[in-house]
Amino acid sequence: MSCAIAITAPDRPATARSVARVTACALWGLETALVTVEVDVANGLPALVVVGLPDAAVQEARERVRAAVRNSGFEFPLRRVTVNLAPAERRKEGTGFELAIALGILRASGQLRVDVTALVVDHLEGRARAAPTPVPPRAAAPRHPVDLADIAGQETPKRALEIAAAGGHNVLFVGPPGTGKTMLARAFESILPPLDDSEALAASAVHSVAGLTDPRHPVLTARPFRAPHHTASHLSLVGGGSPPRPGEVSLAHYGCLFLDEVAEFSRSVLDTLREPLEEHSITISRAGGAATYPARFVLVAAMNPCPCGFWGDAERECTCLPEQIERYRGKLSGPLLDRIDLRVHVPRVPFGRLRDEGRESSADVRERVLAARERMRVRLAATSRRVNADLTIAEVKRFCAVDSETEGLLAEAVQARRLSARGYHRLLRVARTAADLAGCESVRAEDVAFALLLRSDP
Ligand SMILES: Nc1ncnc2c1ncn2[C@@H]1O[C@H](COP(=O)(O)OP(=O)(O)OP(=O)(O)O)[C@@H](O)[C@H]1O
Ligand SMILES: [Mg+2]
Repeated sequence: MSCAIAITAPDRPATARSVARVTACALWGLETALVTVEVDVANGLPALVVVGLPDAAVQEARERVRAAVRNSGFEFPLRRVTVNLAPAERRKEGTGFELAIALGILRASGQLRVDVTALVVDHLEGRARAAPTPVPPRAAAPRHPVDLADIAGQETPKRALEIAAAGGHNVLFVGPPGTGKTMLARAFESILPPLDDSEALAASAVHSVAGLTDPRHPVLTARPFRAPHHTASHLSLVGGGSPPRPGEVSLAHYGCLFLDEVAEFSRSVLDTLREPLEEHSITISRAGGAATYPARFVLVAAMNPCPCGFWGDAERECTCLPEQIERYRGKLSGPLLDRIDLRVHVPRVPFGRLRDEGRESSADVRERVLAARERMRVRLAATSRRVNADLTIAEVKRFCAVDSETEGLLAEAVQARRLSARGYHRLLRVARTAADLAGCESVRAEDVAFALLLRSDP
């Protein structure tokens, strides 16, 4: 929790005992809450006491406030100063209350009405208005590190990326080392639609509370792409701590969370992804209140099929024991895997294809992604949803209806692959996106077949 702005409230002139109230604005997650800083200056032994569930950082404010008041040319009252932060039941964290405490002390000790030079005070007394902070220009859109045209072969994984970008579906790439899994994930940014204004503000707010914004360009121009290392802790992935900070899932809000070598993450850390994947937000409960951060991202994950990396490879033999393979793949638990719509094999590219010419560029693919998004926008205009991955069950029934022949294909697939009800609906959502990319209003058998192809088991 931190204080952003302070406003003084008038009070009695300084007497033997005087009180001032300053309203501070605090952050709890991304929500703002008003905190009243009540300052009482009374006769007694000189002391500064802060009460009202302050944390250690707020307690430390005492020395900084004392120094700031003196160094700004004021007197720190040689009396007993009691600061109460209300409401008392919420823990107050961080250094943001110092301005409010200092102003409260100046007010309660009668110094805020005298002619002073320090600008903050002049602003509040109406003598010299502080200039409003201009909204800085948005930075130019960044260049993307990898273009789809850089990647040889891998037509199916590239189509999976296109579907993920258009419909907001999560994707897992599985394949031997050096086949381009990481390159594919890095190319994802280059085919995503631009952030609209409300998305840019929402994503920037998370980066701002995490202290990660560039002061020259505080509003993000590109969708965030977060790639935490597999040694990442629970805390850094989903957030928490004191004061609470958003984790990688929230820093990826409206962008992409890339988990490379996903089977190397600890299973308990991976399991924490279930809540944000399902709810699109994460709530961090702590003593003194709960903080909720948004976390609407597309998950792109990559892994080898086994610890040595060559299981199923045509050219090299796998050296892993069956139980090693099972343990490795078991890191992605069923419920987590169920939330990944697209699971795609990334095979070795034949040497001869590495020099192929005429590959489609990211710019071309992005055009199709934008056109598909527009179809979704029109179809979902009356709802709060924007992409096919978020369709409700009722909307799946309504917008993903298939003919009886395709229904038969689906029934076989559900039985053969033992798909859960959730898996079945996810399949139809992916098929809907494939149809949107093809510019078709109805979901065709080939869209369902393609969705099935993009859902191989790792
Ligand atoms: N399909 C490809 N087209 C062009 N270059 C490729 C391709 N696959 C791999 N490379 C080359 O190999 C390098 C490694 O690729 P990348 O890191 O994407 O492999 P990976 O599949 O992620 O491997 P690992 O399983 O070891 O993480 C790339 O930097 C690139 O030079
Ligand atoms: Mg890799």
